[in-house]
This record gives sequence, C-alpha cells and structure tokens, in this order.
Amino acid sequence: MPKMPPVDAPRMLRQRGPVFYRQKHLLAIEGLEPPAISQLLDLSESYVLLNRSGKTQRDLLRGRTLINLFFEDSTRTRTSFELAGKRLGADVINMSVSTSSVNKGETLIDTAATLNAMHCDLLVVRHDQSGAPNLLSRIVDAAVINAGDGTHEHPTQALLDALTIKRRKGRIAGLIVAICGDVAHSRVARSNIHLLTTMGCQVRVIGPPTLIPAEVADLGVTVFHDMARGLAGADVVMMLRLQRERMSRGQIPSAREYFRFYGLDAEKLTQAKSDAIVMHPGPMNRGVEIDSEVADDPLRSVIKEQVEMGVAVRMAVLDMLSRGHRRNES
Ligand code: CP
Repeated sequence: MPKMPPVDAPRMLRQRGPVFYRQKHLLAIEGLEPPAISQLLDLSESYVLLNRSGKTQRDLLRGRTLINLFFEDSTRTRTSFELAGKRLGADVINMSVSTSSVNKGETLIDTAATLNAMHCDLLVVRHDQSGAPNLLSRIVDAAVINAGDGTHEHPTQALLDALTIKRRKGRIAGLIVAICGDVAHSRVARSNIHLLTTMGCQVRVIGPPTLIPAEVADLGVTVFHDMARGLAGADVVMMLRLQRERMSRGQIPSAREYFRFYGLDAEKLTQAKSDAIVMHPGPMNRGVEIDSEVADDPLRSVIKEQVEMGVAVRMAVLDMLSRGHRRNES
C-alpha cells in the first residue's frame, strides 16, 4: 500500500477556507463537482486519523439531534451513522420503523413531519422507494441524508468506497474499476459510477444482460458480459450483492450457475492486475457473488476497511452538513 503523508487530524478539522460542498442535504452523488467530493474525502481522511488516535471531537454536534429513520434493514449504514453522530456529540435516536406508527398506517410524509416538529437537525433516511429522501428534504427543516433509496443512490457508500480506494491506491483518477454483478438493482453501483467517473476513473460494469440495464452505458461506463474480459487489467474489482428481494423471476438461472459465470473466485481474479483490490459493500452472499477464499484474503480484500471508512465518511458528512447550520447561526 502506498504510504500516506502524515496528517495532523485536529488541525485539518479546524481548518477554515473555501467550502466546496454547499448543499443543505446529501441526497445523491450525481451532480457533485470534483472539488466537493475531494473535500469530503479529505475531511473523512482526517476523521480516520482522529478515530485511530483515540481523540474525540464531541463538541462539534453537541445539542444537535440526529434521527436514523430506516424503512429497510441495515447493519453497516445505520450503526455507522449512530457511531458517527455519537462521536461528534450529537443526541442520536434510532427510530424503529417496525414498532412505530407507520404500522398503523401513518404515511412517510406524516412521519417525517412529526419528527420535524421535534426539532431534529439531521435526518438519515433509508427507504425502498427511489426519491423518498428527496421528497422529505422538501418538507422538513432538518438536513436530510440519503442512506439508500430504492435502486437510485447510496451516496455515503460511494464516498466510503472512494476513500478506501484512495487510501489503498494513493489516487482515484486514472484507475480501472470493474463493478460486477447485479447492476440493475444496485444503488451502490449507481452512486459509485457517478463518483468514479466524475473523479476520472475508467469504469467498467460486468454482469449478465438481465442484470445490466441498457441505459447504464449513458453514464460513461463500458459494459462487459464476459467476466474475464471485463476484469482484464482492472485495479479495483467491486462486487455487488445479488438483490434477490428486488428481482423478478428468471433474471438469473440459479445461484450455482450465477457463481460459475459471475462469482469472483481466485481464478477469475487472476485476470485483474496482480495488485488489484477486491471490494464488496456488504452484506455478502458467500458462494453466490464472491468466494470466501477471495473475500477473506487479507492481501486482496479491503471489505473490512470499507466498513471502517464508513464511520469516518459519515462523521465527515455530518460535520459538513452541520457547518451550514453553524454558518446560519453565526
Ligand atoms: N452496504 C450497506 O449499505 O450495508 P447495510 O445494508 O448493512 O447498511
């Protein structure tokens, strides 16, 4: 791994200067300019170092309330937003949708309006409908963060993936990134395609025709249906979860057949560069899209590092969005 220059994390966190990310919410990666993405990644990097140093920054969000509103299951995203909020001193509430008044028929908009009346500052939303966080951002006062909406976007996942790539490869621009698997149902793929193409990567998508939407080529990627050809010379191999809960019948013949042609194993990985890294957003279907031998290979797999970066990225996002609040207050 290339050596990163030493960084004084607390000094970076205090730094004043131009703010390139000036939106109130974080709803999507699409439309963000390279300086805004770079600034979020630099701030995230300083939080990685801060977390590893054992220092804290609990005064930053003291008195602020963050509500995690997840209408879909989550382990990594929800937990890391909770950790990130607490590490910055916020009051964090995890709303359990399954035991909330949503079960009595309360609508998404009424639920959000209720939380808004409690003066929540940051609302982290995951929903199975694309566009739900965007809709909420128009009716609540809180800053809304999209934690994954339908098949649309998962912006903090793309940021943590980019941070992992940058730390491992020393750069993002110019890399060949192969995104493999169920692109059709993947908000992770969509956010990554927007971020990586914006930051100068050559992005390939690989998968069976049934799982690669035709319009993906319009996003500036090259489409492959043959795994060996798509992986040839790749610097980064990003596997996607097969999202069976969103699939219609017949999109894959069987899990066994899918693994044979599109599952990443040690043999298929030999097509990529010898120092290519392997990524997966999780949760993994071992033996379906990725073989355990590759997923657990400490020399190639960066899957656990992606999880660590998730906390730092979410701290940076909460910090950046609350800077808008602090500007308005001063
Ligand atoms: N990658 C990701 O979003 O994982 P969770 O569903 O566990 O949050």
